[in-house]
Amino acid sequence: MASPMIQVRNVSKRYQRGGEILQVLDGLDLDMEEGRFYALMGPSGSGKTTLLNLVGGLDRPDSGEVVVADAPVGQLSGAALSRWRADNVGFVFQSFNLIPVLTALENIELPLSLTPLSRAKRREHAYFALELVGMKDRAHHRPNQLSGGQEQRVAIARAVATDPRVILADEPTGDLDRDSADQVLDLLVRLNKEMKKTILMVTHDPRAANHAQRVVHLDKGRLERVVEVDKAQAADTSTTEG
Ligand SMILES: Nc1ncnc2c1ncn2[C@@H]1O[C@H](COP(=O)(O)OP(=O)(O)OP(=O)(O)O)[C@@H](O)[C@H]1O
Ligand SMILES: [Mg+2]
Repeated sequence: MASPMIQVRNVSKRYQRGGEILQVLDGLDLDMEEGRFYALMGPSGSGKTTLLNLVGGLDRPDSGEVVVADAPVGQLSGAALSRWRADNVGFVFQSFNLIPVLTALENIELPLSLTPLSRAKRREHAYFALELVGMKDRAHHRPNQLSGGQEQRVAIARAVATDPRVILADEPTGDLDRDSADQVLDLLVRLNKEMKKTILMVTHDPRAANHAQRVVHLDKGRLERVVEVDKAQAADTSTTEG
């Protein structure tokens, strides 16, 4: 059997604030399989963003191992880590984080500038990603000329433009109305189903979590449980609620 796409082994992370030590992750063990869509839930402060940052190589554990796409992410540093990140992960944030002075197309081209692709190829890939998220007609709009939902779709296009194996999304629907949230969630489902992306999405919203296949529950830096989403029941809940 193939090894899991994401392996978290006995990972601990603490922060020091003033004289106080805050144990954010405490001996966490977690495997996530390739090609699956995971939702990550848990109370505020339970360590969700911290875990996402470790998996994406934006931060490193104090102890334990983080292996993602066969790379010992927790041990890489400097140029090797940047290179690995550019090749393997796409990030999506709650507040979109698009560059205001760049157009949608230019925002998507940005991560491609870290690849050896020619200028023409970069443009081609960026257009392909824009089309994928249904935003080709907004290629030359700047972020402030887009709705929140559209901005997030451009951000998702930016995350997939380099064709990463893993997509990490931190509350991607947190700032969106219900319709825009549904579009973003449907898009993530498609990226998982059609492009086989492994997705880890932090969310506080059980409706959003129902779009995933498995829900990982964290509490106080520990794994509480992993729950398989019952798709029939999930569909039922989303039509009867609200
Ligand atoms: N750089 C830092 N320095 C000090 N403490 C930090 C740092 N980053 C996070 N923390 C603390 O670690 C704990 C976990 O933070 P984290 O952001 O992982 O929580 P979260 O589960 O994502 O919460 P939320 O749902 O509110 O986003 C919090 O108590 C937070 O204040
Ligand atoms: Mg968070």
